[in-house]
Amino acid sequence: MKVSYYGHSCFGVEINGRHLLFDPFISENPLAAEIDVDQIPADYILVSHGHYDHIADVKRIAKRTGATVISNFEITTWLEKEGVEKVHPMNIGGRWEFDFGKVKYVNAVHSSALPDGSNGGNPGGFLIDTPQCAFYHAGDTALSMDMQLIGRQCELCLAFLPIGDNFTMGIDDAVQASSFLKCNHVIPMHYDTFELIRVDHDEAVRKFRNAEVELKFMEIGETREM
Ligand code: NI
Ligand code: MN
Repeated sequence: MKVSYYGHSCFGVEINGRHLLFDPFISENPLAAEIDVDQIPADYILVSHGHYDHIADVKRIAKRTGATVISNFEITTWLEKEGVEKVHPMNIGGRWEFDFGKVKYVNAVHSSALPDGSNGGNPGGFLIDTPQCAFYHAGDTALSMDMQLIGRQCELCLAFLPIGDNFTMGIDDAVQASSFLKCNHVIPMHYDTFELIRVDHDEAVRKFRNAEVELKFMEIGETREM
């Protein structure tokens, strides 16, 4: 499995010959200025919730690649009206088997209005279960006891967790989340993009290490084999 970081909460994951792209927010992210949004591969685009910093480049990438957009029903319905042709609607707690593995759309504690004020349904995260690796992209969320359910239901090899605080969990709560999830490999997201979510990287790594969790910061534009 290959993981590429495109800034903020946007990751590309190549698994089972398919390219998954999570929460594309690139062309409007100054930190991701060197990323060419028109070169990013995608067979599936997974959108955790409706906020612009997770959905900004969905239409552009979906139109170029013909990718299927997976999100909640309200968001996929809105994207269809915006001209996105291939969508797969889900809702919280539901699971579907795709050609790369199973996807469960799980609870997130957050909000989800779309950029034009339309109803973006309930925010979520994604639990991806494949024979090689089960992993979790939390979207934007607070720490919640529901994360214990994920830890009970599958053995995660990796979790993408927000650590930026203010709008989502901060470092301390993300450490607690990794314990609830029973996951000791975490890639952080949703930090540094805005003034309100700047974090001290060394402090974050230290706090996770104290809990015996490896926190792997990725550079924007970096690809890693996991
Ligand atoms: Ni958000
Ligand atoms: Mn956000």
